[in-house]
Amino acid sequence: MPFQETLLLPDGTPMPRLGQGTWQMAEDDEKAAREIAGLRHGFDLGFRLIDSAEMYADGKSELLVGQALKGYRREDQFIVTKVLPENANRRRIFSSLNRSLALLGTEYVDLYLLHWRGETDLAEVAGCMEELKAAGKIRNWGVSNFDVQDLEDLWRVPDGSRCSVNQILYNLGSRGIEYDLLPWQRERRLPLMAYCPVGQAGALVTQDRVSKEKMVRDENVRAVAGRIGCSIVQVLLAFVLRLEDMAAMPKAVGFEHIEENWAVRNIRLTEEDIDRLSRSFPAPTEKVPMEKY
Ligand SMILES: NC(=O)c1ccc[n+]([C@@H]2O[C@H](COP(=O)([O-])OP(=O)(O)OC[C@H]3O[C@@H](n4cnc5c(N)ncnc54)[C@H](OP(=O)(O)O)[C@@H]3O)[C@@H](O)[C@H]2O)c1
Repeated sequence: MPFQETLLLPDGTPMPRLGQGTWQMAEDDEKAAREIAGLRHGFDLGFRLIDSAEMYADGKSELLVGQALKGYRREDQFIVTKVLPENANRRRIFSSLNRSLALLGTEYVDLYLLHWRGETDLAEVAGCMEELKAAGKIRNWGVSNFDVQDLEDLWRVPDGSRCSVNQILYNLGSRGIEYDLLPWQRERRLPLMAYCPVGQAGALVTQDRVSKEKMVRDENVRAVAGRIGCSIVQVLLAFVLRLEDMAAMPKAVGFEHIEENWAVRNIRLTEEDIDRLSRSFPAPTEKVPMEKY
């Protein structure tokens, strides 16, 4: 079976399943040119989704994305950005989005996410998001870092169930969502986006200070990479993308990394591979507190 390039949002909009992340880009002016070149290398290879946030480098990541996109057709890219919880209210969200649009150099974003729940009033967030949609400034909206209880609360407010996506931390070493969140979302056909899909190539330490380094040292991960003849990080990314209602946007600046990530579309893990990976990193058998970065 060929790689499924897109998934469908609840309104039928196709969203690319493999994108480019931009967290920790634009933090150092000396690296910006290389980061822009990397993003463009990704666009040239075929990456069609880019993930940013007003929080990243205090808007400089959005600016960098806007610079990288110059000369590319807007309609070829699916642009995602996020609003901070403290700005996700009637008083501030409209100016927050306008700032993001100006930095990104676009008139609309394809997907606007509430970065995390924080102290937000979910009814107010949903109401504002729907207004932004009606005004044509966003095509869809969603949330990030929402666990089952958060989504249930959201589903209870007017227009809350118009949420299109939940972006969460998911990788081979962080499989907690498979126990309850994934089934909850599947029942409602609410797709997911995986952040830290390759666990920052092993460097990831979660908010609860759990290191994910084991993923890149593990003998079963190495054995699967050996069987396929691919890199360890490619195995990690292929593991996340095995789920067809899951998108992933690894961040990479190195050209070889970007090329490897794009090539994952040609890697298919077998049932035996998944079983082998699960021996080291089993699927959860009980509720696990949501992991975050
Ligand atoms: N919603 C949220 O709360 C949230 C939180 C965190 C992240 N995110 C989003 O998700 C994106 C991805 O997460 P992330 O950046 O934290 O982690 P990640 O994508 O799991 O890992 C990024 C790191 O992995 C390296 N890497 C990428 N591809 C590689 C490859 N093929 N081989 C070896 N190393 C490779 C990169 O190196 P180089 O850069 O040196 O190439 C970088 O150091 C972010 O950029 C951001 O857009 C969202």
